[in-house]
Amino acid sequence: MENQQILMLIIYTTFFCFIPTSSTITPNQSLKYHETLVSSAGTFEAGFFDFENSRRQYFGIWYKDISPRIIVWVANRNVPAQNSTALLKLTHQGDIVILDGSGGRVWSSNSSKTAVKPVLQLLDSGNLVVKDGESSDNFLWESFDYPGDTFLAGMKLKSDFVTGPYQYLTSWRDNDDPAEGEFSYMIDTKGFPQQVTTHGTTILYSTGPWNGYLFSGVSWERMHRFLNFSFEFTNKGISYGYETLNSSVLTRTMLKLNLRGATERFLWSNQRQSWDIVNNHPTDQCEYFATCGVNSICNVNNLPICECLQGFTPKFQAKWDSHDWSGGCVRKTKLSCDNGDWFKEYTGIKLPETSSSWFDRSLSLQECETLCLRNCSCTAYANSDIRDGGSGCLLWFHDIVDMRTHNDQGQEIHTRLPFSERGNFISISILCLFVRFS
Ligand SMILES: *[C@@H]1O[C@H](CO)[C@@H](O)[C@H](O)[C@H]1NC(C)=O
Ligand SMILES: *[C@@H]1O[C@H](CO)[C@@H](O)[C@H](O)[C@H]1NC(C)=O
Ligand SMILES: *[C@@H]1O[C@H](CO)[C@@H](O)[C@H](O)[C@H]1NC(C)=O
Ligand SMILES: *[C@@H]1O[C@H](CO)[C@@H](O)[C@H](O)[C@H]1NC(C)=O
Ligand SMILES: *[C@@H]1O[C@H](CO)[C@@H](O)[C@H](O)[C@H]1NC(C)=O
Ligand SMILES: *[C@@H]1O[C@H](CO)[C@@H](O)[C@H](O)[C@H]1NC(C)=O
Repeated sequence: MENQQILMLIIYTTFFCFIPTSSTITPNQSLKYHETLVSSAGTFEAGFFDFENSRRQYFGIWYKDISPRIIVWVANRNVPAQNSTALLKLTHQGDIVILDGSGGRVWSSNSSKTAVKPVLQLLDSGNLVVKDGESSDNFLWESFDYPGDTFLAGMKLKSDFVTGPYQYLTSWRDNDDPAEGEFSYMIDTKGFPQQVTTHGTTILYSTGPWNGYLFSGVSWERMHRFLNFSFEFTNKGISYGYETLNSSVLTRTMLKLNLRGATERFLWSNQRQSWDIVNNHPTDQCEYFATCGVNSICNVNNLPICECLQGFTPKFQAKWDSHDWSGGCVRKTKLSCDNGDWFKEYTGIKLPETSSSWFDRSLSLQECETLCLRNCSCTAYANSDIRDGGSGCLLWFHDIVDMRTHNDQGQEIHTRLPFSERGNFISISILCLFVRFS
């Protein structure tokens, strides 16, 4: 028995001696099919792969030792090499190039910086990097700057306030085609930053604006038990990412954007040796963008699920009654736009879409209300950050859209109403009092 184990060990060791697996490549080395790079702790592996019944070759990164294999990044996702004679090389300038059988360039990393002693390395985070010198921490190029369909811990999604998102996820086109598909998962910074998943140029669903913990529509308390999320505001834009809280317990985690635009967050269970899906979107009908049209609230526990906000009535009553809510709701009475207007507080809410909102992260909720009252087109306000009792000011103008009751916690929003709505409320109260005491 013992001999057998020793023999196995020898076979195992020899096997690894002959397969060139290392975590780095220098300009004089290359990788061909069946040769791989392995990160130092053995978490990730990078190399050429293909799909059944196809001679198209891709260079990608996957979790080592997990089957079925999950590809987390593909270099030449739009431009496969046509057969297994493909080769990956690092040039003396520090560019990664993929060559086909005839030596033609299929793909190049196009690094803007040139190296003196470039080294290509696969890190244990799953980041494939080009460094200048073995011990340098300065990356000339890194795969984390070019996300595919998988959001790994340590990666950042980024958006510029002026030019918009420039690091975001894009779905695969098909199960055996990693080319850029039609769905994208990004941080929209047209107004206050929010997460949106788009299908082409339209929003499929949004998990809502950032609230200090996470996005307004997700179960942020639960997610914070596993992961440490970060959301950095700079003058130019935002950067969103996450880290695992305790890497000795949680070794592998990822968020995948699938072929139909849904997102699934996976955690690896060492105990069961399988993936757990801890969060996925969209989960219900209320999550699809603007299900109930404008100025309404979606609640999956109600029947029908759509209801107009207080002070509003369906724009097309007959359609609304037949569950076509796309027309949304309109005001029963115009805002007076003077001091008679007031705000109704809704709690337990996923905040509405923010692409035409305004924000100031230093104002208080009081100042926020004052600002909103002062502008006739302002229709709602809320704190932009709900941590530590709330801070910052977020204003909505004209119609508000994609508001729903939250599945667990939710937050507060104040919607603007004309004096007459308060009047109704007061007269109903008086009537009730009258009925009670008579
Ligand atoms: C790489 O190859 C070139 C020429 O083939 C040689 O001059 C150089 O010393 C080699 N570099 C390394 C690090 O082996
Ligand atoms: C591989 O592809 C190259 C061109 O991309 C071609 O020249 C070569 O003949 C092909 N090899 C095989 C075995 O198909
Ligand atoms: C690198 O540059 C070449 C030539 O400008 C271009 O064809 C190719 O698409 C670029 N590759 C990437 C990955 O951007
Ligand atoms: C979360 O990450 C930040 C740095 O981004 C760090 O300062 C903080 O201590 C981390 N929190 C936890 C609970 O690990
Ligand atoms: C991480 O988890 C391990 C095992 O449960 C524990 O021993 C260790 O103290 C934890 N580390 C931190 C920083 O929480
Ligand atoms: C009200 O807010 C809108 C949107 O920010 C802005 O365009 C408009 O100028 C403001 N009006 C006043 C009177 O401040």
